[in-house]
Amino acid sequence: MFSKETYIARREQLRRDVGKGIIIIPGNHEAPCNYRDNTYWFRQDSTFLYFFGLQREDMVGVLDCESGKDYLFADDYDIEDIVWTGPLPSVGELAASVGVEHSGSMKELGAFIASHCGRGMMPAYIAPYRADTRADLAEWLGLRPSQVDRYASLPLVKACVGQRSIKSDEEVAEIEKAIATAYQMHVGAMRLAQPGRYEYELAGFMEGEARKGNGPVSFPVIMTVHGETLHNHGHSGRLEVGRMLVMDAGCETAMNYCSDITRSVPVGGRFDSRQRAIYEIVLAANLEAARLARPGITYQEVHTAASRVLAEGYKGLGILHGAVDDIVAAGAHSLLMPHGLGHMMGLDVHDMENYGQVYVGYDEETRPSSQFGLGSLRCGRKLQAGFVVTDEPGCYFIPALIDKWRAEGKHADFVDYDELEKWKDFGGIRIEDDLLITPDGARVLGKPIPKTVEEIEETMAI
Ligand code: GLY
Ligand code: MN
Ligand code: MN
Repeated sequence: MFSKETYIARREQLRRDVGKGIIIIPGNHEAPCNYRDNTYWFRQDSTFLYFFGLQREDMVGVLDCESGKDYLFADDYDIEDIVWTGPLPSVGELAASVGVEHSGSMKELGAFIASHCGRGMMPAYIAPYRADTRADLAEWLGLRPSQVDRYASLPLVKACVGQRSIKSDEEVAEIEKAIATAYQMHVGAMRLAQPGRYEYELAGFMEGEARKGNGPVSFPVIMTVHGETLHNHGHSGRLEVGRMLVMDAGCETAMNYCSDITRSVPVGGRFDSRQRAIYEIVLAANLEAARLARPGITYQEVHTAASRVLAEGYKGLGILHGAVDDIVAAGAHSLLMPHGLGHMMGLDVHDMENYGQVYVGYDEETRPSSQFGLGSLRCGRKLQAGFVVTDEPGCYFIPALIDKWRAEGKHADFVDYDELEKWKDFGGIRIEDDLLITPDGARVLGKPIPKTVEEIEETMAI
């Protein structure tokens, strides 16, 4: 945990920003896997973590904007629990550890909400993403579960986004800790990427490295020789020379700050000429994005600039024709990159995505695009110093999509479908780094993870 002063200051800011009424911030419950006592690993809710920092399950934080008081509600464990869990701090002790002076039981939470709400007064809360939290809110507020989202608070969302988007130095240090572990995950997996191995062996190695760094992975590892399937979570593939292996994986620290890194390597450690050609194009787009990212530019503009680099490269290979600006304006290049350049990252790997992407990645000035590809950009808004965003261009030859566009004659002015036929068995490549926006540019966070063709071949040769 950070010092209690950090959490006190965050809550004070939140009360000021929301301004009136009470704010309810539920922590998460344990989530059963196949029966009640066999649970998935516990993941605290990120909003609760940000404002209360505590890892215990079944807790609820409340901020009273009228009195300026903060509260922590939960039931103390009794001896029936303690024989299984060992001694644990009381709710009052946990509250004090993060600067909260008032604590109470869950029964007292019910009474507190009843006395502060009702007669048209709703507490501010975030729309829940878990069914059990929805059921709790429904019970506390006298709503049906289906009504809970409707009364969620947009001012609270905006206040949380406002604070969490700007990472403090101590948050950046945590993220860099997560990237240090990701370095071990990726460099180790590169060296294992030899023919005859299976994707699950490398995915398992990565999960082990994440655990050695004292956290879980930040999302299910993507480890695939079919990188053209964007979020391929299957791990049954056998590694063969001639395939590119896409490794998209990160971890969380013990405080749940994340990393999200992608490296793509040739099985066996030597790029062939086709692999090198595509790799250099994607790398140039990744570097261009890092060069351009700075306060004042929108990430939509950076996405578009990176797209121009990709389109220029595909023109050089004879896959696309025409003026680069026209290709990108029409979205023809998105056939080979149907996703956005990046997203915010912090306590969530897609930071704050539960608040609603339009409130996190966009604002009144920058609205989401409806164009294929650009429309999947999770963060498009103007960058500010302190943002942490991913820079993750890619190139994917998706046979089903190529066939569909070809049959429709889509962007036939720009796309050479005959040439593209020769690439349909290629797979995919993605390169992803985590960027901190600084006052005058952007810094790739963490110790550099091998990224150029030469660095990757050298690393895999050891
Ligand atoms: N891990 C999915 C992503 O890079 O956003
Ligand atoms: Mn990723
Ligand atoms: Mn990412």
